[in-house]
Amino acid sequence: MNTISPTHCKAWAQLATHAESCKGVHLRELFANDVARSVQFAADAPGVRLDYSRQRVGAMTLRLLARLAAERGLAEWRDALLSGKKINPTEDRAAWHTALRAGKASPQEVHDTLVRMRSLATKIRTEKSFKRVVNLGTGGSDLGPRLVADALAGGGEAGALDVRFAANVDPHDLARALEGAEPASTLFIVVSKTFTTQETMANAEAAKRWLGSRKTQDHFIAVSANTGVAKSFGAGEVLPMWDWVGGRFSVWSAVGLAAMCAIGAEAFDEFLSGAKDIDGHFREVPLEKNVPVLMALLGVWNANFLGAATHAVLPYSNALRLVPSYLQQLEMESNGKRIDREGRAVDYATAPVLWGMEGTVSQHSFHQLLHQGTQSVPVDFIDVAANEHLTANARAQADALAFGTDDPKLPPHKQYPGNRPSSILFLERLTPRNLGRLIALYEHKVFVQGVVWNINSFDQWGVELGKEMARKLLTRR
Ligand code: F6P
Repeated sequence: MNTISPTHCKAWAQLATHAESCKGVHLRELFANDVARSVQFAADAPGVRLDYSRQRVGAMTLRLLARLAAERGLAEWRDALLSGKKINPTEDRAAWHTALRAGKASPQEVHDTLVRMRSLATKIRTEKSFKRVVNLGTGGSDLGPRLVADALAGGGEAGALDVRFAANVDPHDLARALEGAEPASTLFIVVSKTFTTQETMANAEAAKRWLGSRKTQDHFIAVSANTGVAKSFGAGEVLPMWDWVGGRFSVWSAVGLAAMCAIGAEAFDEFLSGAKDIDGHFREVPLEKNVPVLMALLGVWNANFLGAATHAVLPYSNALRLVPSYLQQLEMESNGKRIDREGRAVDYATAPVLWGMEGTVSQHSFHQLLHQGTQSVPVDFIDVAANEHLTANARAQADALAFGTDDPKLPPHKQYPGNRPSSILFLERLTPRNLGRLIALYEHKVFVQGVVWNINSFDQWGVELGKEMARKLLTRR
């Protein structure tokens, strides 16, 4: 497969020249010269429309970006991802998260695990012997199920199962997750692929102490690839993970059990189907209309050719407020890399810093910088058409960033330069299926960017040194 540096691709040099030539072109001009711009620069995936008309691109930019993807061998890499090839060489593993939501085409072990998950979740939800479920995990063993439960679980109606999450080694986090809970009616789900993560193990031990003399096996379920250790911990049920699923891509596996407990097995199945829809779209749709490919290439254009160092994600939906923190791990742990697949230091930018907050709350916090700061920050607005206020505000912010003001009579502090790029992702509604679609879009975006940047998106060696140092400091005490 193609492992030459992207900067040695013909399209890279052409994009650099092209970026230079369109430097002075304002989004106001692009819209004035093309009445069909908002139709032309949009693409549809199942349940989601990407409007990227406010990105600083023209037809030529897109042609060159698609050429870059082709030169980097995207089609071949995509086949390797989707067929479960070992594309993570530093850990000698596949990155086969798509097999977790492939329906009938999933491996038998995935089916069997889903059957166990459905039966456990349904029992927990219907028997009502547990009133509180606490997920103990961190990173990929926390952020995914936490997002799904927060976005989709009902508004805490009387008698509903209360599903909480504790991720921090700070005991305050677990204490908060246990506020008002009774040991007799509390179930812990310990989620750790390795079953060695310091924070999770500390919280699991603290949970055992909190249960007092109660039988561990009655109050713990474990989810891990290290099943032997998870069993000796004393969990009553141990559900598997597999080395071919990375933590930050694992919400579709038994890692999602707490989310399934919160939303029900049927809704979780819908969530999986949504991701499957996007896998099909990613596999089949030509590059220029392929939504995750477009999201990735627009990110490359902004980071590598327009010099954007950060990227903001603003869901205009309270239910989706955890999307930015979920995406922080997905994008930055995957593509925050400084060496390429050959071990050479790269001389181009890789993942920008991703940040964000739910809109409209964000407007009263940091939008000043977005509109008038010295940096241009590309934005993804996520609009779930939940109500007219949210949609109007998301659209207004995108327009204000793009067009700014062009009245020279305004005093300097009232001028908005505009020409600040953004995309809008429209979801028809917030449903389990559409949430699955949204997350899968970003997963494939991350993969495509890794291909373009010639980096391995599926390892995370950068987190090891600090863990090791903390361990040493603790043992020295
Ligand atoms: O420290 C980073 C990390 O390894 C993530 O990649 C992972 O999602 C998280 O820690 C949790 O790991 P585990 O599931 O093994 O506890």
